[in-house]
This record gives sequence, structure tokens and C-alpha cells, in this order.
Amino acid sequence: MSEGTFQAPVGTHDVLGPESRQWEGVIATFAQWAYRYSFSLVISPLFEDVGVFHRGIGEASDVAKKEMYVFEDRGGRRLALRPEGTASVVRAFVQHHPTTPWRAWYVTPAFRYERPQAGRYRQHHQLGVEVLGSDDPAIDVEVIALAERFYRAIGLRRFRLHVNSMGHAECRSAYVEVLKSYLARHVDELCDEHQKVWLANPLRVLDCKKAACVTVTVAGPQLPDYLCDACRDHFIAVQRGLTAIGIDFQLAPRLVRGFDYYTRTTFEFASDALDAAQNALGGGGRYDQLAEQLGGEPASGIGFGSGIERLLLARHAEGVDEALLKRSVDVFVVDTTGDDVATPLVDELRLRGFAVSRSYDQRSMKAQMKLADRSGARLALLVGPQERDRGEVTIRDLRSADFEQTQASVARDAVIDAVTQRLLK
Ligand code: HAM
Repeated sequence: MSEGTFQAPVGTHDVLGPESRQWEGVIATFAQWAYRYSFSLVISPLFEDVGVFHRGIGEASDVAKKEMYVFEDRGGRRLALRPEGTASVVRAFVQHHPTTPWRAWYVTPAFRYERPQAGRYRQHHQLGVEVLGSDDPAIDVEVIALAERFYRAIGLRRFRLHVNSMGHAECRSAYVEVLKSYLARHVDELCDEHQKVWLANPLRVLDCKKAACVTVTVAGPQLPDYLCDACRDHFIAVQRGLTAIGIDFQLAPRLVRGFDYYTRTTFEFASDALDAAQNALGGGGRYDQLAEQLGGEPASGIGFGSGIERLLLARHAEGVDEALLKRSVDVFVVDTTGDDVATPLVDELRLRGFAVSRSYDQRSMKAQMKLADRSGARLALLVGPQERDRGEVTIRDLRSADFEQTQASVARDAVIDAVTQRLLK
């Protein structure tokens, strides 16, 4: 006897059918759009040397300090589960020297020891892209456009795009000095946490969502006013490109995002259908120094990541018709012959490209029809002893209220044609 059961760990969740059909739909749509933009899939390990993330996202970032799953393996190596995709994809780029510009997409779990709440998990799942080896603003526009087009393709409409530029290392450090002296004069007005830690990384104060910090930083110096000419030109070119392809955006001068690797363009898509604590559908930006920080040759980069759970929450909150992405079976085969007529019939249909399900274990007609209904199939093919002896199959439209009217017997040899015709209708 076992000693009780187990639950999925706090902050994680199982995804089973039929919900997983929505996941399949979202991932397949992303893969299709990534293909249209000529990205190739990259698969890299879920764990890396902890240094990849310390150097990548920054040791002082909240994620590195408080949320990473760090462990020692049996060989004494210090490893971490990936809290995000970018640092490991860039590590793979540095290791393999692919031809540039290198365009990679991924779907990956990401692990962060966060306080679990609606839309916030300790294992969430991201879809994302990274482009390495070019700082052409046209690539920034493409990466943002891919995210926008993909969100629309999965049915989302109520979201806003915020964009900013953080400049490159030099113009940003000039800004940080100005920000420091401004914050020094307003320390007492910051939130409790930032009153203590603002000096270690003043940019983090811009990212703080607490009202006290927001009030101080809104009135303070704004990053885009301190960009050097090259960074300002780059930012203007990105805005011009977005406008040229009809993508609306709002300038968000305080958008610095949570990781230290960002330079120049940063952006975030916020859903208007979700509460502020979980309204980030996705975000990303440039990281023109990251390849070098990870020991490689200089190579500019840009990308974004989007949480699958968030996208599904937003679809639900917007009331997007689930049928939009529904990938249910086409045909359910009901076999009451007592023989196994179903196996060759199902095989033939699958070889011809249909998604097919059936029942097993010689169930009753009634039980099989119940399963057929539940499967979401458009059509049922019924074979009983009579049909078998006549060399026929009965075809029934499961979505029609009056199935007797639409039901028909077809010769076994003509079944593929009959199914094709019905499904095309
Ligand atoms: P991020 O903003 O930390 O960026 O995460 C990307 C997205 O993942 C968020 O916008 C949100 O949709 C989702 N997400 C993050 N944390 C959680 C969580 N705990 N539970 C559920 N969903 C979550 C990155 O990770 C960067 N790597 C994006 C990037 C790619 N920048 C450049 N390239």
C-alpha cells in the first residue's frame, strides 16, 4: 500500500486535455508566425551554470537574488534552473557561432520562486524569440511586430504596447548619475524597500509599482532625455518603423524592465483585460552587451518572451471564442461489430490526414456515442454488424441537431471521399 498521494508543487500546475488543446493552439500559432518571420527553433538545457544567469540577468536583479532555483549537482557544479530564456539562448549563440543575424524562437518552462497568485507561477511557460548579430532598428520593429501579430492571431485585442529606450552603457550611466542625485533628494518619499536599497541600482526604482516610488519617479528626470545622438536616432527609427506598419504604441519613459542586460529599445505589452499585477502579456528589448558579458565576441541582440499562462488568462478575460484555436478531432469511429473493423478504418483516415479518435474495449453503442460527443469530433463513422456485412459505413454529423436527416450510408470504399466532402462543407 502506498502512503498517501502527492500534489503538484506549490506554484506549479498540470495542464491536461481539453485545456491543453488551447496550449497546442497557442504554441502552433506562435510556431507558424515565427516561421513566417524566418526564425528557427532553438532547444537548450533547462539548467545552466549559475554564472550564465548571474552575468546575464545581473546578480543584483530581483530574479537572481530572490527567485532563482540554484542547486549543486552530484559533481559539485553550481547550476540554476532557467528563470527566463534569453541568457541561455545567448550562451548557446556564444558557444556555437551560428551565422548572423541569428534568429531563434523557443518555447520553454521558466522557474522563479515567486509568491504564487493568479497568473504568477513558480514554473511558468514562455514563448519567445531572440535575434543576434545586428543592431538594425528594422529588427527591433520586426520583433515587436511578430509579438503584436501573434497576439492578434490568437484573438487578443485589448492590449497596449509600451516602448522606451534605455540607451547604451555610456548614455545610461550619465542618466543614472542624474537619477541618483534626484533620488538622494527624495529618499524619504520612496517605498520602504527602496528607501533602503535605491543606491545599489537606482534604475530599479523606476520599475517599482508602489505608489510612493511612482510619484517620485514620474516627476524626476526621464531616461530618453539623456540619450546620446546614436541612441536617440535608433529610437526614432524604431518608432518610425512601427508607425509605418500600423502598430500603435505609447512611449513609456520609466519602462526599464527587470533584468540588467537591457540596452536601447525596451517594450512591454500590457493587457487591459487583466489586473495590473498580472497584465504583462510579454516584453523584451535589446541587449547589445550580453554576448560579450557571457564571454563572446561583441554581438547586438534583441528579443521578447511571452507567458503562455498569461496569454490564456487574457484570452479568457477578453471572452475570445475558444473555437478559434480549437484543434479537436475530425472523426470518431464507433465500432459495434465485435470484430476490430475500426483499426484499418482509423488507420486509413489518419494516413489521409484526418485527426481521428475511437473507443476501445468493446463498449456499448450508447457508451461509444457518448465518447464521440465528448471528443468534439465533427463526424462519427458507425460500423455495426449490418454495415460490416453490407460493406458500408454510416456517416453522421455530430454538430447537426437533426442527425437522422443528415445521416447517410456510404460504401466502405467511398468513405474517405464522403468524409472529405462533409468536412469541407
Ligand atoms: P519577463 O518580462 O521577465 O522577460 O518575462 C516574459 C513574460 O513571461 C512576462 O511578460 C509574463 O507574460 C511571463 N511571466 C514572467 N514571470 C511569470 C510568472 N512567474 N508566472 C507567469 N508568467 C510569467 C523575460 O523573461 C525576458 N527573457 C524576455 C526577453 C527576451 N527579453 C529579451 N528577449
